[in-house]
Amino acid sequence: MKVSRVSGALGGSVSQLDVSAALADGSINVIRELLNEHEVLFLRDQSLSPTEQRDLARLFGPLQTHPAYGIVDNIPEVMLLESTPQNPSKIEVWHSDMTFRQHPPSVTVLRGITIPEVGGDTLFASMTSAYDSLSEGMKRYLEPLIAVHDFSHGFKESLAEPGGRERLKTALAENPPVRHRVIQTHPETGKKVIFVNALFTAHIEGLSPLESSEVLRFLYQHCVLPEHTCRFSWEENSLVLWDNRSTQHKPVNDFLPARRALHRAVSEGDQPY
Ligand code: SIN
Repeated sequence: MKVSRVSGALGGSVSQLDVSAALADGSINVIRELLNEHEVLFLRDQSLSPTEQRDLARLFGPLQTHPAYGIVDNIPEVMLLESTPQNPSKIEVWHSDMTFRQHPPSVTVLRGITIPEVGGDTLFASMTSAYDSLSEGMKRYLEPLIAVHDFSHGFKESLAEPGGRERLKTALAENPPVRHRVIQTHPETGKKVIFVNALFTAHIEGLSPLESSEVLRFLYQHCVLPEHTCRFSWEENSLVLWDNRSTQHKPVNDFLPARRALHRAVSEGDQPY
């Protein structure tokens, strides 16, 4: 196996590793260490079945399902993320997955199924790098703050569609707003990270609405400065694993009217702290 760094802040490109063979012979645990080091890993030519993808994600913890996405081959833990002209993706902003949960995913495993000829890359940003480059005064200011993350904030476009509120009634009822610290300590590396995102963070507690939106606006800009990021161009059977506690990502929706489809499995993390 060979690993090469793709940018200064994060990202490891892994070659000469056949994930399904490594899953079968139990030698896959090295991936955990690589994830702690690189935060996101990029692999090519991994023709995993949905079941193998699920089993890979399970190595990082119990699996989570998603309250709003379709599933693949009747496997509840493998979600279909699909964008078509009739139903374009609504995930256009930087985010970490499912931070509306008390225990958001620790690791996301995403596999390319139908990839447009041009476009549809995913951008990644290191929240470790973003935290480290804050001034000491800003780190102290942010340290005690708590943010509210809300499913209905992230899915507001879907909720506003005709019938959307009815369709997502159960998801709404099962996912009330949750509170997470703005600055978290990664449970495995011990490094501090910024943990707010434009998709799911509704506000910061104890600040006025203007203060909250301005602090969040600053953080969202700071977190995705080019020096904290890297970019991945998908191919069919590309496999990407990211640490959802220490990164954010954003798909680039520049490929319509082409279709783009990926399979995703996520493993549950600890409650952030
Ligand atoms: C995701 O947000 O989990 C999917 C990212 C992508 O479609 O590139």
